[in-house]
Amino acid sequence: MQYQAHRFCVAPMMDWTDRHCRVFHRQLTKHALLYTEMVTADAVIHGDRARLLGFSPEEHPIALQLGGSNPGKLAEAARIASDLGYDEINLNVGCPSDRVQEGRFGACLMAEPELVASCVAAMRASQPAPVTVKCRIGIDDQDEEADFQRFIDGVAAAGCTTFVVHARKAWLKGLSPKENREVPPLDHARVYRLKAARPDLEIVLNGGIETVDQAQAHLEHVDGVMLGRAAYQNPYVLAEVDRTIFGEAGDVPTRGEALTALIPYAEVHLRNGGRLSNVTRHVLGLYHCQPRGRAFRRLLSEEATRSSAGIDVLRAAIELAESGLNREDQSRAA
Ligand SMILES: Cc1cc2nc3c(=O)[nH]c(=O)nc-3n(C[C@H](O)[C@H](O)[C@H](O)COP(=O)(O)O)c2cc1C
Repeated sequence: MQYQAHRFCVAPMMDWTDRHCRVFHRQLTKHALLYTEMVTADAVIHGDRARLLGFSPEEHPIALQLGGSNPGKLAEAARIASDLGYDEINLNVGCPSDRVQEGRFGACLMAEPELVASCVAAMRASQPAPVTVKCRIGIDDQDEEADFQRFIDGVAAAGCTTFVVHARKAWLKGLSPKENREVPPLDHARVYRLKAARPDLEIVLNGGIETVDQAQAHLEHVDGVMLGRAAYQNPYVLAEVDRTIFGEAGDVPTRGEALTALIPYAEVHLRNGGRLSNVTRHVLGLYHCQPRGRAFRRLLSEEATRSSAGIDVLRAAIELAESGLNREDQSRAA
């Protein structure tokens, strides 16, 4: 097997995959590569770095996703990030929002492979971490397979060897970002064909993957898979990853074990003046389709958002969700 680093990834998701979310996901999988939310190069250079870029050592392996299209700024932002210890720097060439288009970055860069190549070259020259690109299969009317290949080849010529491909095109005019994740049809086969045509590149498939079984099936055709919404909304899907995808021996963590392991982290966050809900808002889907899943979600949604909420609220939620369940019940329910 040529490539391992991206065999299973959790997608960059604005407002969702913040540092608290990533620490929670880490309690379920040690090996998946975790991506940050997108941060613009300008924000990295001029913004509050501790807030925008801070992460905990346990989040490794972790990739920072950058947004931008100015090679000089991206190079500087990449250098700052790699100095902070990020394992990879990823460039966003897939986001279709108006705000991002105004800044001439995100998915509209699919039309400018030469500019993306310059960005990648500058980011690679400024620091030692690998530089990867997350893109779509096309945009607007520029969505023939030949256009896609031209984009990939142009960017690969600048030394990018890893591409994460969201397997649907983006309509830059007329669809909202949410619609652009749902309306254009998925075309996984086009990404398979890219891997077949360019076997030396590492190709990671993203879009519509919901289970580890589906991930396994895709891995017959590509080097890696990336899950977004399914990993966030039904995070227990991640518990199976280390064993099934990475061949680790040992028990899959139960939901209760993953939450209990999160308590020390949440306690430090509270001691530093943070709110419990900053952490617990990411765990609401953990008992998705489980007997006490709704009660668990309700308790945390109502109680953890109070400014005075302490760690006892999380303990109570675990007790509520776990009451009466032993390990065998849990694995049957999984
Ligand atoms: C709430 C939300 C925020 C997202 N933010 C980003 C982002 O910052 N950068 C990015 O490249 N993609 C972003 N995406 C797209 C995802 O990374 C992913 O490509 C998309 O959801 C398709 O994968 P899925 O079907 O597994 O969810 C976002 C998706 C969602 C749902």
